[in-house]
Amino acid sequence: MQIMTTGDAVSLDVPPPETHAVDSSRRKLLKRFLGGGILASLGSFIYPVLRYIVPPVETNLGVDSVVAASANELKPNSAKIFRFGSRPALLIRTAEGDYRAMSATCTHLSCTVQYRKDVRQIWCACHNGTYDLNGRNMSGPPPRPLEQYQVHVQGDEIQVIRT
Ligand code: FES
Repeated sequence: MQIMTTGDAVSLDVPPPETHAVDSSRRKLLKRFLGGGILASLGSFIYPVLRYIVPPVETNLGVDSVVAASANELKPNSAKIFRFGSRPALLIRTAEGDYRAMSATCTHLSCTVQYRKDVRQIWCACHNGTYDLNGRNMSGPPPRPLEQYQVHVQGDEIQVIRT
């Protein structure tokens, strides 16, 4: 826009108004961007809530047995995490000297659990879920027990077998 002065008269040199079609297409484009942003925001809120409510399904480990430790590796009231196929597993030697083995993948949202020797429980640090030494969910959000494995002591090896 230009302001033209010729003598006493002042005139505005206004460019011709843009067509409605250009304004309309800009509005549509802006609405699409806003709509997409709102949908993306809703998705980012809803997806974690759904994953929290519907925990992931356990998948096949692909391996049926593994040597988890040597016979003298674990002292009573201790544990170790070992790899069982593609997933972590937990081998516990109880205070009485028995062995227990189970999946170390929390049944809530798949964090790796750990053995707490001070309270003799299995604990998931992600949301403070607890399991007993048989893998039964005791408190917190875990919806079901940890998958249990059999333990065989063969010579110097502690073998864990999926049943
Ligand atoms: S992942 Fe939530 S309690 Fe383990």
